[in-house]
Amino acid sequence: MATLEIKDLHVSVATDDGAKEILKGVDLTVRAGETHAIMGPNGSGKSTLSYAVAGHPKYEVTSGSVTLDGDDVLAMSVDERARAGLFLAMQYPVEVPGVSMSNFLRTAATAVRGEAPKLRTWVKEVKAAMTELEIDPAFAERSVNEGFSGGEKKRHEILQLALLSPKIAILDETDSGLDVDALRVVSDGVNRFKASGETGVLLITHYTRILRHITPDFVHVFAGGRIVESGGSELANVLESEGYVKYTGSQEAAGV
Ligand SMILES: Nc1ncnc2c1ncn2[C@@H]1O[C@H](COP(=O)(O)OP(=O)(O)OP(=O)(O)O)[C@@H](O)[C@H]1O
Ligand SMILES: [Mg+2]
Repeated sequence: MATLEIKDLHVSVATDDGAKEILKGVDLTVRAGETHAIMGPNGSGKSTLSYAVAGHPKYEVTSGSVTLDGDDVLAMSVDERARAGLFLAMQYPVEVPGVSMSNFLRTAATAVRGEAPKLRTWVKEVKAAMTELEIDPAFAERSVNEGFSGGEKKRHEILQLALLSPKIAILDETDSGLDVDALRVVSDGVNRFKASGETGVLLITHYTRILRHITPDFVHVFAGGRIVESGGSELANVLESEGYVKYTGSQEAAGV
């Protein structure tokens, strides 16, 4: 059973004024079968956490550790992290002009699975996943994310999730910009992914509405570059009504 363990993680980003520490000691363990939600003010470092775990070169880990089933994630390249079973759906998915969705998905699946999926079964697999996510088949031939609407990009992130079946999925604001129907479709996709009970989900969100579809086992409040409180799903409702002032002292101090 997969376990992602983040211990006392400190991360800096290079800026024009030198290195700036964004994450200031994050401790978090996500086990297979668990869904964790992270909520917190803008600029508190939630996306930085997801990028650092995924291996974005801009984010330097200055201390702490990240392990997946005991293996040192920080020593792995970005590809190795994906092969080890980590998946990140980004807050702002990138566009890749000139590369079709279908080529991209097959290349990604080949990299993660260690061998190219057999064409015949692969086509069926992609079709089934696209149908489940109510994605028009015409998207397969379009360039990755190019000209996709915000909601379409998010739906395609979940398509990747469905096809790559990682051990641990980090979903950064996958619900942002989704209309009510798309929210249901995307949530159903995440719930299907969770259904095996063998995968862990870390869901970064600003809204409780997605948590009504995908029930978190734990909710964490992220402020000032670390987790400042953890609780059960009821904590999300408290945050919705009371905001983050309790944790930040003021709106201004909400960031890092
Ligand atoms: N490359 C960078 N250069 C300068 N500052 C950066 C860089 N990347 C992140 N930061 C800063 O780090 C802080 C945390 O950013 P991050 O994107 O992790 O926040 P967040 O919690 O995801 O916010 P949001 O809820 O708005 O998505 C912000 O103040 C941001 O400006
Ligand atoms: Mg963010």
